[in-house]
Amino acid sequence: MESRGHTGWIYTIGLILIILPLNLQGVSAKEGNLTCVSCHEKINPNLVVSWRESPMAQHGVTCIDCHGSHHKSAEDAVRASLMVGRLCEKCHPTEMAQFKSGKHAQAWASVYKFKKVLELPPEMIDAEEGCGGCHSIGREDGQCDSCHTRHSFAKEEARKPEACLPCHGGINHPQWEIWRSSKHGVVYSVDPKKERGPTCQTCHFPRGDHGVKTAWSLLALRLPEEDREWVGYRKTILKWLGLIDQEGHPTDLLNELQMKGIIHVKPEEWTQFREEMVEICGNCHGRLFAREKLGQRDAIVKKTDQLMAEAIQIVENLYQKSILARPDVRPISPDLLGLYSPPNPLEEKLWEMFLRHRIILLHGAFHNNPDYTSNHGWVKLKAAYEDVKRMAKEFLPEGEK
Ligand code: HEC
Ligand code: HEC
Ligand code: HEC
Ligand code: HEC
Ligand code: HEC
Ligand code: HEC
Ligand code: HEC
Ligand code: HEC
Repeated sequence: MESRGHTGWIYTIGLILIILPLNLQGVSAKEGNLTCVSCHEKINPNLVVSWRESPMAQHGVTCIDCHGSHHKSAEDAVRASLMVGRLCEKCHPTEMAQFKSGKHAQAWASVYKFKKVLELPPEMIDAEEGCGGCHSIGREDGQCDSCHTRHSFAKEEARKPEACLPCHGGINHPQWEIWRSSKHGVVYSVDPKKERGPTCQTCHFPRGDHGVKTAWSLLALRLPEEDREWVGYRKTILKWLGLIDQEGHPTDLLNELQMKGIIHVKPEEWTQFREEMVEICGNCHGRLFAREKLGQRDAIVKKTDQLMAEAIQIVENLYQKSILARPDVRPISPDLLGLYSPPNPLEEKLWEMFLRHRIILLHGAFHNNPDYTSNHGWVKLKAAYEDVKRMAKEFLPEGEK
């Protein structure tokens, strides 16, 4: 008994010794923070209100925790630290680790894969009104304030589908518009509290997991493929993207895109992503129903690939017969991933088919919005395909038309 009592005392004294300096530090940090707050309350009052009402402030997280204490007056404001990504990690290692395993963490790197970015006016790049306006989410260690905006950094804000709208809307990837006018979006908007209708977060942040990724990804190209017919279409497309060479071997570009998760080459991975998605649907639908619906959408990917491959073949024939001059800047094929200034109107049409209509069609299909799948997607894809056929015909000699 006695010896247990002694150990107890030793523990207590030890604890006091540990807590004491921590507590003193806490007090002085709090006092330091008062000066930050009292000055900033005058110069940026609403900023301070947001912070004060934030769950973090209520747990004692101060200005100094994020910005350091090197800047103390109006004259030395440049000394305040704005490198906060790493700081979030210090206190939230779990969310940061998840974030890093997902596609958002690649957003900054993937944009610079495409040299056409640099064709944007430097004024737009500097103002972050170009690609960086959205792809900044992956900059440095990750811009956590993309969804938890400062200075509230609220979980509830990030849970609202609107948090995704600034980047996942508009003409290139209108997931917001598609979801909102789909059955899911409509059920959510008439009954938002019960979450009967799934939001972006229901399906892409299961259990709060920050590592967003999907089985197909934006370009909806992956390797290998078991369906023989589909392999044929996929090969034509991949060759024309410069991702495999004439013999079918992967190029350096493919390896790079694979490392960034833009193209999946591990079937065990995408099968797992799909299974996880079916489990999410399974909270509200039968799993058989969900698996069937998603399988039907895979079949739509195949159908668009068929049309895409046929269109490419039409243009390729003109090059092979030297009826159309093959642009000699590219060793292999048209730059369907390039963003602007295709070398001739036929390639412009192919680009439009691939990066605009095909992608929107697939966004529509996987988010169950028949208006986007058909009217904004298939109808336009098919019209552009017919344009390719018609334009190619004009190049052909009389006998071959
Ligand atoms: C005496 C007033 C004063 C005090 C005290 C003060 N600041 Fe500032 N701070 C300023 C002014 C002025 C600016 C420039 C803001 C502006 O232009 O609106 C500034 C800017 C900043 C910026 C932005 C820097 C940038 O590069 O944009 C941060 C972050 C900041 N302060 C944090 C703090 C923190 C943390 C403390 C406490 C350690 C603190 N401030 C104490 C006056 C003060
Ligand atoms: C949880 C971390 C965190 C806390 C706490 C915090 N900030 Fe910030 N603050 C940020 C982040 C993130 C940015 C954006 C930095 C960037 O430019 O990437 C920022 C930017 C700023 C800026 C400049 C940009 C702007 O929007 O005006 C000022 C000024 C500022 N903070 C002041 C403060 C003051 C004053 C406090 C305390 C009342 C405070 N911050 C508390 C994380 C924090
Ligand atoms: C000094 C430690 C510390 C730092 C630095 C920090 N946090 Fe926190 N954060 C906390 C604590 C403590 C809580 C409240 C307890 C909890 O929810 O884990 C919290 C809660 C949160 C929440 C949940 C808020 C809610 O609505 O319940 C979010 C979101 C968050 N932090 C984001 C961030 C972001 C983004 C950064 C970087 C800009 C950051 N935190 C930096 C300690 C920190
Ligand atoms: C600041 C802009 C921004 C915000 C806000 C944003 N995203 Fe993203 N998101 C991106 C970018 C950019 C990419 C592409 C990343 C890359 O280059 O690989 C992306 C990729 C994704 C992907 C991966 C698609 C794939 O290729 O597998 C999903 C899923 C996703 N986002 C869901 C969301 C959800 C859900 C929200 C809201 C909670 C959200 N995003 C908020 C910019 C954003
Ligand atoms: C309005 C916000 C926004 C702007 C501006 C923007 N992007 Fe994106 N970008 C996104 C989103 C969101 C995604 C993910 C879409 C998806 O997976 O369906 C994405 C995806 C991509 C991808 C595919 C990444 C992958 O993993 O599949 C590339 C490459 C890309 N963008 C390049 C660019 C380039 C280059 C620019 C500038 C010319 C640009 N983006 C401008 C939001 C934007
Ligand atoms: C694309 C949007 C998005 C980005 C970017 C983002 N978050 Fe979150 N975050 C969310 C969503 C959505 C939730 C709510 C998840 C849930 O519980 O349903 C959340 C919740 C949180 C929470 C609360 C966790 C809990 O269980 O209470 C913390 C802490 C957090 N995020 C930190 C971060 C940090 C750190 C970063 C940067 C690495 C970050 N977030 C980047 C969307 C985002
Ligand atoms: C009912 C579940 C569900 C909801 C709600 C949902 N998504 Fe998706 N999302 C999916 C599925 C399924 C895919 C395709 C997954 C695959 O590749 O197999 C997908 C794919 C994506 C992709 C990759 C490119 C694409 O469009 O095919 C992005 C980015 C994305 N969703 C963002 C969002 C955003 C932003 C919202 C909200 C505006 C949202 N999603 C709402 C299930 C959902
Ligand atoms: C939070 C619950 C919820 C989740 C999760 C969810 N759904 Fe739904 N879904 C609904 C509701 C509610 C409806 C409307 C049903 C009706 O029309 O009566 C619906 C309708 C649909 C429809 C329209 C066709 C029909 O039968 O009405 C399809 C297709 C669909 N969901 C597929 C999916 C797929 C695939 C997933 C997973 C990627 C999924 N859903 C996830 C709730 C959900």
